[in-house]
Amino acid sequence: MSAAAKSFSNANAQFTRAEAAARFILKKTRLRPKIALVLGSGLGAFADEFVSATRIPYAKIPHFPRSTAIGHAGQLVIGKVDGIEVAAMQGRIHLYEGYSPQEVVFPIRVFSRMGVKSVILTNAAGGIKKELTQGRLVVISDHINLQGANPLRGPNSDKFGPRFPDMTNAYDKKYRELTLAAGVRLGIDLAEGVYAALAGPSYETPAEIRYLRSIGADLVGMSTAPEVIAARHSGLRTLGISCVTNAAAGVLDQPLNHKEVLETAERVKSQFIGLLRAVIPLIAAAL
Ligand code: HPA
Repeated sequence: MSAAAKSFSNANAQFTRAEAAARFILKKTRLRPKIALVLGSGLGAFADEFVSATRIPYAKIPHFPRSTAIGHAGQLVIGKVDGIEVAAMQGRIHLYEGYSPQEVVFPIRVFSRMGVKSVILTNAAGGIKKELTQGRLVVISDHINLQGANPLRGPNSDKFGPRFPDMTNAYDKKYRELTLAAGVRLGIDLAEGVYAALAGPSYETPAEIRYLRSIGADLVGMSTAPEVIAARHSGLRTLGISCVTNAAAGVLDQPLNHKEVLETAERVKSQFIGLLRAVIPLIAAAL
């Protein structure tokens, strides 16, 4: 086989693997979710509340990468939230774990092959903008991908989507508006902001945070951008919600640690879950 033919078949192998994983998952449940969630660091508890739930450890799903990060359970949960069928990743896959960008977005591609139409991505993030203080929930308006990687690099599989996908409205405007409106109704002081994605796993230096602020970033984290790129490639609509678990490096005169990230996520858990519960029916109605 020529080199060109080989790389083409690799691109299509991704598609075949995603289809196999999707078929495996759908055989385990009668539910057919159109909405999927990716629950970030310390934010996985929501999936414990699903009704009629099927839980599948990532390790059991063909071709699925395993989550190694602390605060990530590493299972797919399919169930119902107030009667609406949803699938959730209880723990995501990060680039810093050593996975390739393609592996990081594999679950998103599986969702698309399962018939999912919309993905809600959540994450823990550092607050760069002064108002984005610890515990604040933020609707992501856009991202700046500084991971030095793009999951679409390499031969394109046209079966997933186009070579050059548009990212103009990557974080769906309608979803952002309905989430902000839900926040008002629930009395949650939601903000909106631009998320800068870095590869990690070291936290940023204060100089890097000053740089990120100057280029228009309000939040910083180590995830979400690759998944949104893959989701948009496959035509899925996306909503991103960050939980500000700490002030970004140098904003306050104190060091950062993962314990603080998990503790803050735990503190805002019920508010966060309340928001997701309010938003899911609105997204379902707008599918
Ligand atoms: N930087 C990067 N990622 C993060 C942070 C941070 O300050 N907080 C939570 N995830």
